[in-house]
Amino acid sequence: MTDQGIDLLWGLLLVSLGLSALAVFFSISRHRRNSTPATVHVAGEDVASEAARKVLREFEKNGQSVDAALVTWSPETLRKILHEDLPEAQVIVVSNREPYIHNTKGDGVELVVPASGLVSAMEPITRACAGTWIAYGGGTADRQMVDGDDRVQVPPDNPSYTLRRVWLSEEEYQGYYLGFANEGLWPLCHIAFTRPIFRESDWDAYEAVNRKFADTVVAEARNERPIVLVQDYHFALLPRMIRERLPEAIVITFWHIPWPNSEVYSICPWRERILDGLLGSSIIGFHTQFHANNFTESVDRFLESRIERADAAISYGGQTTLVHAYPISIEWPLQLLAKLPDVAECRARVRDRFGLPADAKLCIGVERLDYTKGILDRFHALEELFTRHPELIGKVVFLQIAAPSRGTLPAYRQLHDECMRYADDLNLRYGADGYRPVVIVAEHHSQKAVYEIYRAADICMVTSLHDGMNLVAKEFVSARDDEQGVLLLSTFAGASRELLEALIVNPYDAAMMSGALSQALTMSAEEQRERMRRMREIVRDNNVYRWAGSMLLDAARLRKRGELDRVTANAERLATPDNVVPIFERKQVAGLR
Ligand code: F6P
Repeated sequence: MTDQGIDLLWGLLLVSLGLSALAVFFSISRHRRNSTPATVHVAGEDVASEAARKVLREFEKNGQSVDAALVTWSPETLRKILHEDLPEAQVIVVSNREPYIHNTKGDGVELVVPASGLVSAMEPITRACAGTWIAYGGGTADRQMVDGDDRVQVPPDNPSYTLRRVWLSEEEYQGYYLGFANEGLWPLCHIAFTRPIFRESDWDAYEAVNRKFADTVVAEARNERPIVLVQDYHFALLPRMIRERLPEAIVITFWHIPWPNSEVYSICPWRERILDGLLGSSIIGFHTQFHANNFTESVDRFLESRIERADAAISYGGQTTLVHAYPISIEWPLQLLAKLPDVAECRARVRDRFGLPADAKLCIGVERLDYTKGILDRFHALEELFTRHPELIGKVVFLQIAAPSRGTLPAYRQLHDECMRYADDLNLRYGADGYRPVVIVAEHHSQKAVYEIYRAADICMVTSLHDGMNLVAKEFVSARDDEQGVLLLSTFAGASRELLEALIVNPYDAAMMSGALSQALTMSAEEQRERMRRMREIVRDNNVYRWAGSMLLDAARLRKRGELDRVTANAERLATPDNVVPIFERKQVAGLR
């Protein structure tokens, strides 16, 4: 073929392609003009984008308003977030331990605030939100104090929220609380070398009690969309149970103790059920990123799920859960502080109350008598100190406040006995003429009495073998408005990630701890001030209102995103002809998802 022939052929080909394209174009536009759904589609897009823009505008506006509120976190900030970002949301707190216990005492009733980090953190939050707190009514006079709906208004001297008590039978309490929660999950989650015990009957009780609390949440909810703040390892199954009954609820679960690595976690016979239960939450919070990562690893290993590490989100069973670190904290400023005597007066009172020598340095430990707290390790350190520095015998006294806890369990009874034996031994070896180097008081103390002790101390020892956060460390810092006192803090407590000016110790290393004790005993007032000032700033800025506020803000964002998704989904539905199933649903019907 000649060159001219080839050119002609190319020309004809191009003309025919052009004509076909024109034909297709006209055919499509004719189809569009005749097609009603296409018109609806365009209108639907407009509806969707306008609604989406509205929600986004609101979303951005709220983000800004909260950034402004970041300056100081207070009960007002929290109320503002609730009012502006989660309007009309009812806050329901669920925990095992109640914030106020009524016990019979003689002919009357005594009010007890339990020794619990959870309670000291959640109480100011619930007060600020005027919410409902659902908890196990374990006090001997609890039933006497409630109304016909098992409710009592608290705090008793200035009621600002409702405490709803849940009653448990002796078997339920044994199986759910003492058994599964405290002989199973507690040692499983703490590296303290106490073997977890798993019994099928305990698991059954745990599940039944979680269901009982789910029923109570549903009964207390005023509408379909409450914000439920589920607290701790007693309620791993509750988030899923709430989600099934109140799909629109925001469920924020906070795990107050560490989460083990997936290898350790794997020994739990109900590991999948626990993960499935927790993933009913909208948000799961841990004190540290490390524990949040351990949780995500466990999910990765044991459940079919999609993990978006960059977004800290887990998609499982058609629902997304955020997994974040929210370091818990305490009330700041502490209302109680204004009612306490000055430091000199506290020192005098505490020395008088416990018969301590006036000239000895006072070292304290304050906690529940628990094997995770490293109480025996403190005694080791003291022994080591006296061995290395005999000149300090008689010049330092160690006061241990040990609130009785879970005392019917063998591991706790054993610890109690060991502590008493060790204290007696030290007192025998190093005590003289009324001087006892160790004073151990295994009794409950009121919050006021505990704060007087914090203010009286020269050194506070927080030597947990493993701890989610440990709020005693933060309480000690908050109590010291005189900017004096030294904090010895275990590297295995979450608080050591924030309170860097403490003397950070390894409780397993008695030599190191005795070195830190000796450093603390000789630290200048100036150095104490520098360290304490910095730690006080940290606790002030990262107070408990910020902790709760961050979770509520994330919850508000989730809810807005949910609204956005719903708006878009509705618009898609609008845009779709009645007889056409959207692709997503078609895939579902066909079992493709
Ligand atoms: O540390 C975990 C924790 O649940 C805390 O949140 C709480 O302060 C403490 O244990 C309470 O222990 P219990 O209620 O068993 O006395």
